[in-house]
Amino acid sequence: MTYVLALNSSPNGAPRSGTATILKHFVEGMREAGANVDVVNLAELKISPCKGCMACWWKTPGECVQQDDMEQIYPKLRKADVLVLATPLYVDGMNAQLKAAVDRLIPLVEPFFEIREEHCRHPKREPSTGGRLALVSVCGFHELDNFDPLIAHVEAICRNMGREFSGAVLRPYAKVFPFLKMRGVEVDGVYRDVHKAGVELIQDGKISEETMARIGRDLVTREELVDGMNSFFKRSIQAGSVFRATSNFVSWVKGGPIDLTQTHSSTHTTETHPTTPPHPQPPTNDASNQDTT
Ligand SMILES: Cc1cc2nc3c(=O)[nH]c(=O)nc-3n(C[C@H](O)[C@H](O)[C@H](O)COP(=O)(O)O)c2cc1C
Repeated sequence: MTYVLALNSSPNGAPRSGTATILKHFVEGMREAGANVDVVNLAELKISPCKGCMACWWKTPGECVQQDDMEQIYPKLRKADVLVLATPLYVDGMNAQLKAAVDRLIPLVEPFFEIREEHCRHPKREPSTGGRLALVSVCGFHELDNFDPLIAHVEAICRNMGREFSGAVLRPYAKVFPFLKMRGVEVDGVYRDVHKAGVELIQDGKISEETMARIGRDLVTREELVDGMNSFFKRSIQAGSVFRATSNFVSWVKGGPIDLTQTHSSTHTTETHPTTPPHPQPPTNDASNQDTT
């Protein structure tokens, strides 16, 4: 049975996290295809950054001197046929939580240099690496090319680690899916495609180009996203809270423009603004606590 280790680095838990929600559907697909999938939420662990002491090369070969929760990950990683890296896009790359874990993989290689595929590499300490790697990421902006620097980085990591890159599940503005759904946008089709990507990864060894393209498809125009987000942010700043400004966001998803000329209470943010249309409560249990950052 294929063993998959999925490292989820979002500091937000599902269902508020776009990363965790997309990953959940991906994992369900992999499990349906027969994989044994272990999801590790890095935010729940203490993983210090690499100290660069190189003790794992000279003093305790293969072992990091830092004793923290990376110790749970090393054995899982050594046996992982597939490694899934799931991260929100932070400043055009993976977030610090994931980078800390990735940097801590240095004990899995030896210090020596070798030439592989016309490139200097470190030999692997067998059987620590090999197998495949897939990327899952979400971002706030509209365009798929926001992920380009991250893809380039992850492909380089694959070459470095000797893992085969098996594709990426990349979804812009995933965090606002619950609100888009309330507005009548068909977001469940994306979740189904993410599920399919999980099946493909296990059954075919890679995610098809067609499925990756479908996952990243436009659901709203760039202008609609910009208008909606800006209305939400303006009202949240007025209210002094982003996490509790639910009614403001609901007014956007229901299609009504938000009247920004009225001053809103700076402390109480969950009341419906008197000048906005009536706002039904979000149907999902989490939507009242959604933020959009
Ligand atoms: C520190 C930080 C940096 C971010 N940088 C970007 C970025 O460069 N491009 C982008 O499209 N979204 C960016 N975002 C938005 C997040 O990628 C987006 O909100 C994502 O859904 C967050 O993941 P989560 O839903 O799992 O919390 C950033 C968010 C944060 C908090």
